[in-house]
Amino acid sequence: MKEFVSLKPGTLLSPVPAVMVSCALPGEKPNIVTIAWAGTVNSDPPMCSVSVRPSRYSHGIIRDSGEFIINLCGEDNLRATDFCGVKSGRDVDKFSACGLTPVAVEGFSAPAIGECPLYLACKVKSVQPLGSHDLFLGEIVRVGVKKELMDGDGGIDFGKARLVGYNHGVYYQLGRALGFFGYSVAAPDVLQRRMEKLK
Ligand SMILES: Cc1cc2nc3c(=O)[nH]c(=O)nc-3n(C[C@H](O)[C@H](O)[C@H](O)COP(=O)(O)O)c2cc1C
Repeated sequence: MKEFVSLKPGTLLSPVPAVMVSCALPGEKPNIVTIAWAGTVNSDPPMCSVSVRPSRYSHGIIRDSGEFIINLCGEDNLRATDFCGVKSGRDVDKFSACGLTPVAVEGFSAPAIGECPLYLACKVKSVQPLGSHDLFLGEIVRVGVKKELMDGDGGIDFGKARLVGYNHGVYYQLGRALGFFGYSVAAPDVLQRRMEKLK
């Protein structure tokens, strides 16, 4: 059976990340907004995008400060990630409500979130109104990774981060590694060694 059911056009690309984006105006309290419409859009220079509805409190902060920090969500950060996506910084200090630690990032007014496994600190390069959302394109100028995630060879052991993915309203644990870049054509000894390491 290779039949498809035709649905109304919608945002069903899955899985997507659910990230906590921290932002702040100079000298003011920082805020956090949960974003699922986030993506990697360029390698050199490294760039990311976040799509934010103009009605969000964070929208004006990101627009006026010209920066945002993407904090990846591990399993331990999931409750906070959900909370920061249902409460507004207009009404609540999300850092203190979630017991999150602001960590200073050089050259940024916004802090990173100390409890998250990895952050990407971005400077806004352009803002593109799309309709419901504005797309902020940002250049990643600083990256921070939790020490315990570094494997001995300068790589990142993402397995330890226990990252969360998001599929159309539901959070999922990413689970176990099934393969690696190029595994379909890797030599058998390389395949075995790498897969052992990924277990
Ligand atoms: C899992 C999840 C993903 C979300 N993704 C987005 C998104 O990509 N863009 C957006 O504008 N709002 C998104 N939201 C909604 C905002 O996070 C939410 O409206 C938040 O309360 C806004 O906070 P603020 O007013 O402090 O900026 C998402 C919420 C959740 C729970």
